[in-house]
Amino acid sequence: MSQTNDTLPPPPFKIKMVEPIQLTTLAERKEYLKAAGYNIFNIPAEKVYIDLLTDSGTSAMSDNQWSGLMLGDESYAQCKNFYNLRSVVKEITGFEFIIPTHQGRSAENLVFYALNLDKTKIAVSNQFFDTTRANIESMGAKAHDLVIPEAYNTSIYHDFKGNMDINALENFLNQNSNVGVIILTVTNNTGGGQPVSLRNIEDVSKLAKKHNLPLFLDAARFAENAYFIKLREKEYSEFTPKQIAQKMFSYTDGCMMSAKKDGLVNIGGFIALNNKDTYNRIKERMVITEGFPTYGGLAGRDLEAIARGLTEVLSEDYLRYRYQQLQYLGNNLVKANIPVLLPVGGHSVNLDALRFLPHIPQSQFPGWALTIALYEKYGIRSVELGSVVFAHQKEDQTWVYPDLELVRLAIPRRVYSREHLDYVCQSIIDLYKSKEEIKGLKMTYDPGLLRHFNALFEPISS
Ligand code: F0G
Repeated sequence: MSQTNDTLPPPPFKIKMVEPIQLTTLAERKEYLKAAGYNIFNIPAEKVYIDLLTDSGTSAMSDNQWSGLMLGDESYAQCKNFYNLRSVVKEITGFEFIIPTHQGRSAENLVFYALNLDKTKIAVSNQFFDTTRANIESMGAKAHDLVIPEAYNTSIYHDFKGNMDINALENFLNQNSNVGVIILTVTNNTGGGQPVSLRNIEDVSKLAKKHNLPLFLDAARFAENAYFIKLREKEYSEFTPKQIAQKMFSYTDGCMMSAKKDGLVNIGGFIALNNKDTYNRIKERMVITEGFPTYGGLAGRDLEAIARGLTEVLSEDYLRYRYQQLQYLGNNLVKANIPVLLPVGGHSVNLDALRFLPHIPQSQFPGWALTIALYEKYGIRSVELGSVVFAHQKEDQTWVYPDLELVRLAIPRRVYSREHLDYVCQSIIDLYKSKEEIKGLKMTYDPGLLRHFNALFEPISS
């Protein structure tokens, strides 16, 4: 049920403050790339024209949020903004205990610690985000993805490509008695921002209960997921996004949230849950690493901005505009025959690098090469979710490459206008015409875990 018209209604906000951006020259960008070791994460942000590296922490806050910052209560313990945040999170999630954290990955780390994920345990998800997987693996546990097989085919349309494969989960739980937690990532970022249906959340919840396992939502993009449910799951079409979100959380035991996405803030996160023992373990641990449990590594003002952002993000006008903006970019690319992951996701449009650059083998990082070309020619920063991020080496030293080689164009919330998206779209169409000129890369420095942040490369000249 994707929107096919190529127009975009006006956003439900107007602009009060502007931040200049500048397009550098091709020669300059070639130099910046060389100095950056051909790693887009090393390019100074000022030298980027349109920055689609991530939708995380890059939102424009509203006047309501900015004014909330002035009401920050910077008391060390029990500041009033904590109570405001707690009441908003409780209203949306229904959970009893709320713990702020400085961002999503610290919430993950604390939850996995409290659940005793050690080397004897396996965590199961539809698909783990890279930091979530890294947090699990760094505790010695295993992370296992069980998303539906359709998720690995970029050209098949499926309303809920983020769904857990229920049969596979049932078999897995029957065969493995050492699963420690089940996590549903909503939306599934790694698979292209694809939603999970309420029916699927309910089915996973039944299995979790049957096996007496905690079910957590990785709720970074819960509001976008709720809007997809409203559009695509008929029985909820009359529900408000907030009612749908409440229902999503009601099937689970807790959540970890990076508020840098659907919290509409530049920093922050939280954990919310019902189990008192787990809550106590998190509180004991976090005073060592994050701070007192009512501020969790954040200032009082940050807590206020999250509380207000969580309320704003569930506005149906906002979510409709957000959905339409993504559809607009994605559908215009599809119309020009650009290989894009279908359907378009909630926060990102994803180019399929294996189909875009079939002449580059995965050992030469086609997705990465595409991010480099997009920056070099047009000043657009995107991110690879492919062989650099996900390939791993087997014990016999041979490489296993991921099924998907995506280049994610993540759209920051309330930041770019239709004109910016038109520029991005036209640039990609132009690049596609000369795609044979794009060359692969050789990795000259491999830092191991989460290697995309620090890896260095050289272009392959021949
Ligand atoms: N879970 C999901 C689904 C995410 O997408 C992210 C971050 C995290 C957890 C971790 O949250 O960054 O606040 O520590 N995703 C960003 C991205 C980095 O670009 O997609 P964090």
